[in-house]
Amino acid sequence: MLRCVLSGLATSTLVCSLLVSAALDTGIHKHPDLDTWFLVTDKSTYVIGATAEGYVCNVYWGSRLEHMDNLNATLPAYTSSQNPPITYATEELPAFGGLRYRENLLDVELPDGVRELNLLYNGKTNTTGDNHLDVELVDGNRTDLTVTLHYELDIENDIIRRSYTIRNGLKKRVNLSRAQSAAWHPPTALGVDDTRELLTVAGEWGNEAQTQRTILRPGLTHVIQSKRGHTAHQSYPFFALRQVPSDLSPASNEVYFGALAWSGSWEITVDMNIYGYSRITGGIHHHDFGWTLEPGESFTVPEFAAGYTQDGIPGARKLLPRHVRKYQLKNVKTQQKKDMYNPVLYNSWEALTFNITYDKQIALADKAAPMGIELFAVDDGWFGARDNDSAGLGDWFVSKKKFPEGMKPLADHVHKLGMKFGLWFEPEAVNPDSDLYREHPDWVFFYDGIPRYTGRNQLQLNLGLKEVREYLYDRLSTLIREVGIDYIKWDMNRPFAEVTMHHYKRNPREAWVHIVTGFYSIVDRLKKEFPELLIETCSSGGGRMDIGILQKVDNAWTSDNTRPDARLFIQHGASLFLPPRIMYGWVTDSPSDSQIDIPLSFRFHVSYMGGLGIGSNLNTMTEQEIKEATGWIKLYKQIRHIMQNGDLDWLVNPSRVGDLIAATQTTTQDQSEAVVLAFRYNSVFSNALNPIRLRYLEPSAIYRVLVYEEDPEIVAEDYDMSGALLMNKGISLDGLNNIMFRSAVVWVQKK
Ligand SMILES: *[C@@H]1O[C@H](CO)[C@@H](O)[C@H](O)[C@H]1NC(C)=O
Ligand SMILES: *[C@@H]1O[C@H](CO)[C@@H](O)[C@H](O)[C@H]1NC(C)=O
Ligand SMILES: *[C@@H]1O[C@H](CO)[C@@H](O)[C@H](O)[C@H]1NC(C)=O
Ligand SMILES: *[C@@H]1O[C@H](CO)[C@@H](O)[C@H](O)[C@H]1NC(C)=O
Ligand SMILES: *[C@@H]1O[C@H](CO)[C@@H](O)[C@H](O)[C@H]1NC(C)=O
Ligand SMILES: *[C@@H]1O[C@H](CO)[C@@H](O)[C@H](O)[C@H]1NC(C)=O
Repeated sequence: MLRCVLSGLATSTLVCSLLVSAALDTGIHKHPDLDTWFLVTDKSTYVIGATAEGYVCNVYWGSRLEHMDNLNATLPAYTSSQNPPITYATEELPAFGGLRYRENLLDVELPDGVRELNLLYNGKTNTTGDNHLDVELVDGNRTDLTVTLHYELDIENDIIRRSYTIRNGLKKRVNLSRAQSAAWHPPTALGVDDTRELLTVAGEWGNEAQTQRTILRPGLTHVIQSKRGHTAHQSYPFFALRQVPSDLSPASNEVYFGALAWSGSWEITVDMNIYGYSRITGGIHHHDFGWTLEPGESFTVPEFAAGYTQDGIPGARKLLPRHVRKYQLKNVKTQQKKDMYNPVLYNSWEALTFNITYDKQIALADKAAPMGIELFAVDDGWFGARDNDSAGLGDWFVSKKKFPEGMKPLADHVHKLGMKFGLWFEPEAVNPDSDLYREHPDWVFFYDGIPRYTGRNQLQLNLGLKEVREYLYDRLSTLIREVGIDYIKWDMNRPFAEVTMHHYKRNPREAWVHIVTGFYSIVDRLKKEFPELLIETCSSGGGRMDIGILQKVDNAWTSDNTRPDARLFIQHGASLFLPPRIMYGWVTDSPSDSQIDIPLSFRFHVSYMGGLGIGSNLNTMTEQEIKEATGWIKLYKQIRHIMQNGDLDWLVNPSRVGDLIAATQTTTQDQSEAVVLAFRYNSVFSNALNPIRLRYLEPSAIYRVLVYEEDPEIVAEDYDMSGALLMNKGISLDGLNNIMFRSAVVWVQKK
């Protein structure tokens, strides 16, 4: 077939060409005649190519191509001297230099004073397996300064991970003042009148992961960011661009989405020009960033993962958590652990706060085990002179006052009860009132002559210093070995300040990167030495939940706010990127976290959505409450293969006005079972809840439907229904009446 398409403003130009007829498999394919590479996943294709001038540009990103079309990368057509084609090119790595005026990724200072780059393809590529591609660029005639673009495909999840390595082959130092990870160029919205909506996730302590929707407008650049040194609660390094269907064009559910694998300061920008073309950039925040490359050295930027789906936000919500889980499993050595479920956790913080002792912990453990709890964790307060948050942090030695015989007898007791044993740490911080700080005041971040800014009475250790990393690794690994720790809750409770490296022959601004790489190196080392160790990421709740750390750890503490109706909103946003098994929720006491008495059933049902934890004070729960909780834990274990390893979708987004309802459906990957969690937390009207329509079932199959409401021992309803009826008419939940805080668990099994 011969076809011609006129070149427009877009970089990609489909020229008069013969279509190559062979169907394209998934994987990476070089066009036989053109400098064009096709990155093909199950349902998407991403094409890059080098223009005649040598600029490496994106040529296509969208629904999967079945053929290797003759796509040639070209610069946009010249239209006016004010529109330099290179500015509108879809360059894969736009660096500062020349006539480029949009957001760029890379700013350098070269030894001869030049601060501009012109990166061109030098003809070298490297394909490894069917999912890695490297493409090498050089700076104009300075062929000793190379940048290797890295592409890695997650074929089944339609996600591409990108980063690059910049190498200084020159004889002198090169400085980087910005080194961000990737630029993404989705095509224009479908029709002239169509709009693109940007979905982002914002929050605060106790109010994490609230989804935000913004329409893209020409001339506006949106910046989401953290300058705090860690991922932070205020914005999450995640974006989704959704096509808003209009009545002029066929509805489309196209979504481009992505997330950064970086747990330090970060930024993502999204813009759109007047013709509807967007650029998305992201990486380490350029604010106060610096890195020096000595001759022969290289720097690799963190990965920025992005994907494409035609299945709307539910599609993105399926693919990104699956992707995180897949990368997390890469680090899991034993098959046994791959098949395991995350344990039901008990944490004594809300029961005892700092007032822990051996005897009190034993009493709680004895109560927890018969309830079916599988992991017993001791929170803050077990070490040093730690009676409140003003002292002891950094002194990772078991308090003799609280545990006269050390921690091992408690761990042994917990193990004998058949539970795993966990301890809380905040390794990166130190109280000025601690032995560690008195001994090593220069181990924290500071500037001479200005105050050391404390937050929550604590300073932040400089993980750029090897001796600090060694101290922390030694303390953690020694305790893990000696006590028999199965799980650590790794907390981090303040943003960074005075981030710099002292007595450093290199660039003191490198500290911003060391914060993160130092943290990762300890986590990686612990995971390597203790493959069975579970690690939880926590930062005053959900302050460190980027996909970089999520793929290294086993669970995430989604929020300190355990009020269940607040949790619905938090889990709604967090589930955009958290695999359900990682997203932990605790059942805590009512009304201690609110002035409203919320039924235990509602609390459990909200926590069922991911990994289940209990934070209630077992000493003050009534016998009846213990019995009910035990029943809910038992039911959770029967369905957790669905809750933890299934795909979580929202049938009804949590509403803030009107009838306050929310509903999720978690479906096994083989679609043979699903669990719907349905919540009605308030309604001033007495009408029945409208039927809830399920998804992802086989229309022709018959399903058994089991409904649990206020009592785990009682099946409120038990009936059969066809997949078609479940999806097209839906289920009625009469128990969700207009009394506040009604909820149900609906277990659907294919017969
Ligand atoms: C693609 O671009 C190259 C370099 O500009 C040119 O030589 C070649 O003819 C083009 N191929 C097609 C099929 O247009
Ligand atoms: C690079 O940064 C270092 C440290 O700030 C500085 O001493 C050096 O002059 C810089 N070199 C260049 C080429 O800018
Ligand atoms: C190609 O990439 C692989 C994996 O990243 C690496 O081991 C190999 O050395 C590379 N080869 C070349 C020629 O760069
Ligand atoms: C390389 O240097 C030559 C000679 O100075 C110059 O004509 C050419 O434009 C340079 N190429 C690039 C890509 O900068
Ligand atoms: C812990 O002890 C302090 C006094 O040391 C007390 O004020 C606080 O109420 C206690 N908390 C609990 C949960 O027992
Ligand atoms: C914190 O604990 C220390 C040591 O037990 C005690 O001296 C101090 O008064 C406590 N501070 C607060 C604010 O409770």
